[in-house]
Amino acid sequence: MCGIVGYIGQLDAKEVLLKGLEKLEYRGYDSAGIAVRNADGIHVFKEKGRIADLRQVVDSSVVASTGIGHTRWATHGVPNYVNAHPHQSTSARFTIVHNGVIENYHLLQEEYLPHVEMQSDTDTEVIVQLVEHFSNEGMATEEAFRHTLSLLEGSYAIGLLDTQTDDTIFVAKKNSPLLVGVGAEFNVIASDAMAMLSVTDQFIELHDKEIVIAKADSIQIKKLDGTKVERAPYTAELDLSDIEKGTYPHYMLKEMDEQPAVVRRITQQYEDAAGNVTISEDIATAIKEADRLYIIAAGTSYHAGLIGKQYFEKIAKIPVEVHISSEFGYNMPLLSKNPLFVFISQSGETADSRQVLVKIKEMGYKALTITNVPGSTLSREANYTLPLYAGPEIAVASTKAYVAQITVLAITAYAVAEATDFDLKKELSIAANAIQTVIDHKEEFQALTEQFLATTRNAFFIGRGMDYFVSMEGALKLKEISYIQAEGFAGGELKHGTIALIEDGTPVIALATQKDVALNIRGNVKEVVARGANPCIISMEGMEEAGDAFTIPHVYPLLAPLASVVTVQLISYYAALYRGCDVDKPRNLAKSVTVE
Ligand code: M6R
Repeated sequence: MCGIVGYIGQLDAKEVLLKGLEKLEYRGYDSAGIAVRNADGIHVFKEKGRIADLRQVVDSSVVASTGIGHTRWATHGVPNYVNAHPHQSTSARFTIVHNGVIENYHLLQEEYLPHVEMQSDTDTEVIVQLVEHFSNEGMATEEAFRHTLSLLEGSYAIGLLDTQTDDTIFVAKKNSPLLVGVGAEFNVIASDAMAMLSVTDQFIELHDKEIVIAKADSIQIKKLDGTKVERAPYTAELDLSDIEKGTYPHYMLKEMDEQPAVVRRITQQYEDAAGNVTISEDIATAIKEADRLYIIAAGTSYHAGLIGKQYFEKIAKIPVEVHISSEFGYNMPLLSKNPLFVFISQSGETADSRQVLVKIKEMGYKALTITNVPGSTLSREANYTLPLYAGPEIAVASTKAYVAQITVLAITAYAVAEATDFDLKKELSIAANAIQTVIDHKEEFQALTEQFLATTRNAFFIGRGMDYFVSMEGALKLKEISYIQAEGFAGGELKHGTIALIEDGTPVIALATQKDVALNIRGNVKEVVARGANPCIISMEGMEEAGDAFTIPHVYPLLAPLASVVTVQLISYYAALYRGCDVDKPRNLAKSVTVE
């Protein structure tokens, strides 16, 4: 989703900003822009499309060492030049970049700006016009900025330049991620530490409703009422090489390849001194004290939650409900007496999940966040965090984070179980090897995909039990990166309606990794084949049959998703490649969805 960068120091701000925006490209965007300030005033460059397009329109002769930049993922107004950020006030005194959604922007416009002719369709422009409005009424810039912020309902991360305030970036944040990076004689702002890691690894977290007056040699953090806040920087534990593609053509391929290592790393990270996989005592106690867990998540993380429910119920005997975050907050079910909320989120920034977290905290309940980004909003605001240790995931399509989520969920359920009849550490090691085997056969998936999916307009994934949940994830992966209409179904449910869609050649990818239902799913495959479907069966060793497209090595049944999901990831990846799609940056999508 939208990304913000800002720089104030001695270097050529244009280049620092453009490079920073390139590092935020993975978040998803449809236009980009920068504004730099020098003695001549503020120079704005923006363009629809990619950063590469923006680079073409940036005037290299402009020299400036202060600036702000933005990648926009359209919410209010179509993606075009006019709606791209930065936006300026009518007199061009103030220039702003903004992430988030201002819910009351129409009301504010009506009340304070009836005579202002708006240039864009965005909610953002209202913010910059309000700052100008209040400054025209006699307020100093900081006061006008704070007063404007106090009127905004919704979410914002903001960088603001003023032609009349030398070498300063005014910064603010509420419900949208934003960090301040600290350097020697320079400071930066960024939605994500990754964007500015090439210039500093020292970052200061901002809390909601704080503003920052950033200069090259100082950072002042204040609350909206003007009270000063002191906060020390932390070191971002990110390795720049983790966020480089290296020789890989796509981040998605690199991240799929990392999956065996991710499972092994997690196992090590969650090992105690005796070598057993475990979690910290306080989190284990909170889970054991709960009478029911409510897993809240979106997209791929929701699919991981469905698997997590099986782990908690089958391994730890703890009842679980899994809910889509965008639904839960507005249609809350009757809760148990003593619930614990478990938020699963790769980014830790998903606004749909955060609105639930805010609500359940107001109700007095506790929350655990399972995330790849400790220090993210969902992590900071929950009572407990379990990190995923997957390393930065850059491709919009989540792969290694899903595998990491399942692994951490399995470890958590195992750690709180009163008794277990299997050795999870050993089984995870076997599963990591099985993932490696699938990856080592990726060419087979490439060939398979050409045969099944190169030209189809739709596809079905079917499975039963654990395989059903992986089918849902397979369908999501395929549709988000290849734009093939795909659905994941419980095998037995097809004949209750959906089978009507099966025609000659319709691809049906069936997962058969669960012994108790393997014959049933094969029966479902026969039903669709009888109606012309083109089947592709992915089985597991021990239940394979002649004609299966691929057989994954045997793994502990509950852990089968760790290996079987990799097959559907690879199928989706190659389908997108055959169709010439932008694998890492699929259309209309954002990596971290920071608006509701
Ligand atoms: O960062 P989160 O895990 O909270 O993100 C949730 C979804 O937006 C995310 O999983 C999305 O569905 C992915 N693009 C799927 O690949």
